[in-house]
Amino acid sequence: MNEQIKKDMIAEAFKMLEYSYAPYSHFKVGAALLSANGMLYGGCNVENAAYGPSNCAERTAVFRAVACGERDFSAICVVGGKEGEVTDFCPPCGVCRQVLREFCDPDTFTVILAKSPEETKELTLGELLPFGFGRETLEN
Ligand code: THU
Repeated sequence: MNEQIKKDMIAEAFKMLEYSYAPYSHFKVGAALLSANGMLYGGCNVENAAYGPSNCAERTAVFRAVACGERDFSAICVVGGKEGEVTDFCPPCGVCRQVLREFCDPDTFTVILAKSPEETKELTLGELLPFGFGRETLEN
């Protein structure tokens, strides 16, 4: 992963914390999704008074990008914390891992978790979702 692109992704994910709508959990999450052609799509969590319809930051980013015609992605950066204060890594929930699995190659798609621009952890989607159910499973 190109260091400048990684820096840009981390900065965009932190910027998205400002747009997070989390009046119920007070846990703000920001994401930045990188498409194969180099575009960045930001996302934040958007909560709801009925709780169930709430949407995670990662899925907001994926749906936003897909609605712009993108279907090919290489990486995502995720940051989050109580009241938007990032003190630890914020790994994607199971539902978001599955949504990423729909569009991303588990062997190459990189998930960047960041506490700060300097403190990061990188995993592949396959490491986060081993033996996952994908489109190809439906062919068997
Ligand atoms: N959240 C995300 O945005 N992404 C995740 O992967 C985990 C959880 C959000 C959902 C909810 O608005 C808040 O964090 C607390 O669960």
